[in-house]
Amino acid sequence: MDAELVRANFEAAGQGHVFAFWDELGERARRRLLRQCEAVDLSRLSELRAAIDELKTPRARNLSPAPVFELSNREFPYALADAARAVAPIGDKALRDGHVAVLLVAGGQGTRLGFDGPKGCYPVLPLSGMTLFEVFARKIRRVGTEHGRTPPLYVMVGGHNESATINFWQDHEFFGLSPDDVKFFAQGEMPALDENGKLVMAAKDALFTGPDGHGGVLNALHAKGMLADMRARGVRYVSYIQVDNAQTPVADAAFLGLHIAEGAEVSLKVVRKEDPDEKVGIYCLDDGVPGIVEYSEFSPEQSRERDGDGLRYWAGSIAVHAFSVDFLNRLADNGTDLPLHAAHKKVPCIDPQGNVIEPAQPNAWKFERFIFDTIPLAGKVNCVEVPREEQFLPVKNADGPYGPTGFKQAYQDYFARAVQAATGKRPPAIEVDPMAAENAREVIELAAKANWDTTKSLHIKQ
Ligand code: UD1
Repeated sequence: MDAELVRANFEAAGQGHVFAFWDELGERARRRLLRQCEAVDLSRLSELRAAIDELKTPRARNLSPAPVFELSNREFPYALADAARAVAPIGDKALRDGHVAVLLVAGGQGTRLGFDGPKGCYPVLPLSGMTLFEVFARKIRRVGTEHGRTPPLYVMVGGHNESATINFWQDHEFFGLSPDDVKFFAQGEMPALDENGKLVMAAKDALFTGPDGHGGVLNALHAKGMLADMRARGVRYVSYIQVDNAQTPVADAAFLGLHIAEGAEVSLKVVRKEDPDEKVGIYCLDDGVPGIVEYSEFSPEQSRERDGDGLRYWAGSIAVHAFSVDFLNRLADNGTDLPLHAAHKKVPCIDPQGNVIEPAQPNAWKFERFIFDTIPLAGKVNCVEVPREEQFLPVKNADGPYGPTGFKQAYQDYFARAVQAATGKRPPAIEVDPMAAENAREVIELAAKANWDTTKSLHIKQ
């Protein structure tokens, strides 16, 4: 590592301030800074600036609604629609044949939830306090019990929560999954730019960096050997889920069946958006090409446009996908980089004198890639609508409908409604072990064989 050369390159790129404290730094601190600098591709700073310009002055879009199929009927308890039922056996077979893996992205920082630790360690279920990670592990075990093959799980973590996440899984003996079938891999990091286009320094010897967004999964899967691992295991389809949504089915056979039967490269699930201000990306056509327009990039007028009884752009993405591994490999082989999205954020940093600053207002630009930007690159896309309370109850914020209390309320309403449909009575509180049942239909089936006391809290266990 030639420090003088790196420094000269940074000077030439207008980023000489990165070395402002070089003379004060000890050997270790210098090595640390150089290592970070080497990871920054200075030739791509213009891409970061372009992402800021795009946010400030979004390009004109030519949007129109995109076709969406219904995965299930609209009436509770939402039986599968005929078309989905017809193809579910194709998904079942892919699961039995070991062609499916689960990809859980858990590299975010969970700042909005205000939870100190990896978000997956958050105790989410109302009676037992089962954590998000355990919920997903138990869902996967159930898929394994039903199909005779347990899908491998790939967990994307961030540099900031990698060891805490791995320790948590180890401490809990992988929640009953085989450790060989749970792979952790870290996503990449991105620097931040200040208002003058300068790289933000977190300390005299360190650039500020943050996770590169869930779209970083594309590079990380390839770079960390996960695509190769999938190939070696014979995995053809990936069931992609995000750590914040405990209600999402994992490796959903009907969804996978549709994906396979349609020859799709990417599939996605949406819910019907009724509140135009709900913070979900919208699935639509942009110049005729399917994709997701993020809520932050949608104009307020457009998100309020109406069509008949509902919103014209109602298809809110719940960030649940199926990917064909051939497609992911193709993108990796072509060295495809997903576009960068900028966000104006409060970024802790140092001032030119080296004093640490905790800004009260957004002071810098952070950059992320989004996984759904793979959609416009796919040869075939398949989108299905799913019932909201059956599949989308995320825990994102400290309060409100997307907070833990909102989650517990909606989760219990949904399952209590199933018990009521089956027994005529509603328990005062309810929790359903993900290994016992995944949705209202399955709870209704269990009720036929059980004799539950619905006057007390009901914990349906395996
Ligand atoms: C996201 C989607 C939005 C969708 C909504 C549904 C984005 C940009 N938007 O919103 O279109 O409607 O979910 O719930 O994703 N993550 C990483 N690494 C990162 C950043 C995030 O692994 O660098 C993971 C998080 O751990 C979490 C998930 O991605 O599991 C969601 O990320 P977040 O940034 O919270 O997205 P939302 O704004 O909630």
